[in-house]
Amino acid sequence: MSTFKIQDCHKETIKGICNSFENNPGELISILHKIQSEFGYLPEDIQREVAKNLKISVAKVYGVVTFYSFFTMTPKGKYPISVCMGTACYVRGAEKIVDELKDQLKIKVGGVTPDGKFSLDCLRCVGACGLAPVVLIGEKVYGRLEASQVREILESYVD
Ligand code: FES
Repeated sequence: MSTFKIQDCHKETIKGICNSFENNPGELISILHKIQSEFGYLPEDIQREVAKNLKISVAKVYGVVTFYSFFTMTPKGKYPISVCMGTACYVRGAEKIVDELKDQLKIKVGGVTPDGKFSLDCLRCVGACGLAPVVLIGEKVYGRLEASQVREILESYVD
C-alpha cells in the first residue's frame, strides 16, 4: 500500500513532463523515467495521474512499472544502497555484505530505514566486476568491500 498522497503541485509536475513528450503514450517509458527521477519512485497515485494525462489505462502504466526493474514503487532512502549480486560479486561474498547491511540497518532488502536515511536494494552486475564485491551508495562506488567495513561506511553518512 502506498502512503504517498498526491498534491496539486505534483499533478502540475507530472502534467508538465507528459506535455514535454506531447502526451504520447509511445513515450511512456521515457516519461516514467523522468517522473521517477523527479519523485524518486512511482507510487500508485503518480501512475494514475500519468495514465490520466496520456489517456491510457492505469493497468498499462502499472504493467510497464512492474516489468522494468529500474522502476520502483517504493521510496528510496536519502542514501540508497545497492549491492551488486552479479556473479563476480556473489562469488566474492556479496551475500555477506547484504547480511551485514540488513543487520546494521535492521531492514530487509527493498526496505527503507524508519528515518528515511538509507534504503537497501540488490542489483545485477554494475559493470565493475574487477572491484567485486561492489556496493553503491547513491553515486558513490565501494569496491572490494568486506563485511567488517560496513559499519564504518554507514557511520560516515552523518546527516
Ligand atoms: S558482478 Fe558485480 S560488478 Fe559485475
